[in-house]
Amino acid sequence: MEVVICKTAEEVGPRAADHVIKCISGRSTPVLGLATGSSPLSLYAELARRVEAGELDLSHALAFALDEYVGIDPAHPESYANVIRRTVTEPLHLSESRVRVPDGAADDVAAAAADYDAAIEALGGVDCQILGIGSNGHIGFNEPFSSFSSRTRIKTLTPQTREDNARFFNSLDEVPRHCVTQGLGTIMDSHSAVLVATGEGKAEAVAAMIEGPVSQVCPASILQFHPRAIIVIDEAAASKL
Ligand code: GLP
Repeated sequence: MEVVICKTAEEVGPRAADHVIKCISGRSTPVLGLATGSSPLSLYAELARRVEAGELDLSHALAFALDEYVGIDPAHPESYANVIRRTVTEPLHLSESRVRVPDGAADDVAAAAADYDAAIEALGGVDCQILGIGSNGHIGFNEPFSSFSSRTRIKTLTPQTREDNARFFNSLDEVPRHCVTQGLGTIMDSHSAVLVATGEGKAEAVAAMIEGPVSQVCPASILQFHPRAIIVIDEAAASKL
């Protein structure tokens, strides 16, 4: 696990973008793993800037989002399908048909999740998995005590995660209770992983991930076993290391 500590939050996106580009360089069909949440937004903005400047071409890329809510109308502005379209697919000029998000509205969500996982596995895992971290140490929506060998599946959101995400909805009541998320095993199949975190609110989870024991209490700690995991954080997120 390589840890990069930036002086300010503003430096995190560009530094992380450098790592993502390095991870996919030389790949004719780069496969990206995409996180939602606010943490990777500056990373996506930096990738978009480089695409616009003609320094980066992602037109041949494939992408797989980490997770989606179950029980949300796919047309809802906060469905992850829409968030990914708004923050990644459109600004990076990716082709819609090459970007997949788990289907939380399928008739059989469990079967759709297994198909989704099989599609990633068939590629041998994604080339570069972009990650954020929840304040309770979750990655994707793998909440504490998720199995380290888990694959894409339905999960129940913890009250803390629902509260953390309530800022994207009109009320806590509107926040879905379930989700479908790539498993920790799926994430660990990635060839490389770039995790971004900023702010004091993430400091405890970041410390547990990097310096704590590898434990299901902090799902992100599994990244200590990842052969190419790069953690890009600001000084505030690093303050408990
Ligand atoms: C969300 C997402 C995660 C994300 C995390 C942190 O619920 N499912 O993929 O990394 O929580 O979000 P944020 O970056 O907004 O703090």
